[in-house]
Amino acid sequence: MTIDVLTLFPDMIEPVFKHSIIGRAQEKGSVTINVHDFREFSVDKHKSVDDTPYGGGAGMVLRVEPVVRALRALEGHEQALKILMTPQGIPYTQSRAQTLSKNDHLIILCGHYEGYDERIRDYFDVEISIGDYVLTGGEIAAMAVIDSLVRLIPGVLSNAQSHEDDSFSMSLLEYPQYTKPRIFEGKSVPEVLLSGHHENINIWRKEEALKRTQKRRPDLYEKYLKKSEN
Ligand code: ADE
Repeated sequence: MTIDVLTLFPDMIEPVFKHSIIGRAQEKGSVTINVHDFREFSVDKHKSVDDTPYGGGAGMVLRVEPVVRALRALEGHEQALKILMTPQGIPYTQSRAQTLSKNDHLIILCGHYEGYDERIRDYFDVEISIGDYVLTGGEIAAMAVIDSLVRLIPGVLSNAQSHEDDSFSMSLLEYPQYTKPRIFEGKSVPEVLLSGHHENINIWRKEEALKRTQKRRPDLYEKYLKKSEN
């Protein structure tokens, strides 16, 4: 997979993906992440990328020309799925991460300033929001999207790190996990996990996952019940 990110702050993104699982995924060739500064595509002498809104009002608006010029300079841009990061987008979920992880080429635009010139939207296929809050820019949102979908590309996670048990992939939150020591400040690991009885362990984990989901995320719990009925 190739991911091209269009941003005004490449330094916010590049160092983050040098590390850990996403860093290794790039070394292995499972994904190539290219980060581009679209200010370079501004043609005026100040390299401006934003301007005041027509009709007046506070704040600046991202201009359409540098974005479209940057987009068209990317190899394969016609076939790529083009994503705009915005709090006005569709809510991002694990199931969307799964769908996006199957694409060969994604282009992601991170906005800044007060908003986009509305015409920018015509050049993108999908608008994504990572939650109902407003970030100072789309970079952190784009990084969350990239991180969550790259780990789903086959071969990126080892079997040991498998995402089969992820919270949300079954629409349940994950069961509680423990590691050494057996007792810490009087708090012990549940007996069943030390029993070596795999069937009982699986039953306990399923029950705990159900309890936890019902308590913390009744919305997911209801969805899960409905899905299991079918
Ligand atoms: N840009 C600013 N806030 C955002 C959000 N919540 N999701 C996606 N992009 C954003």
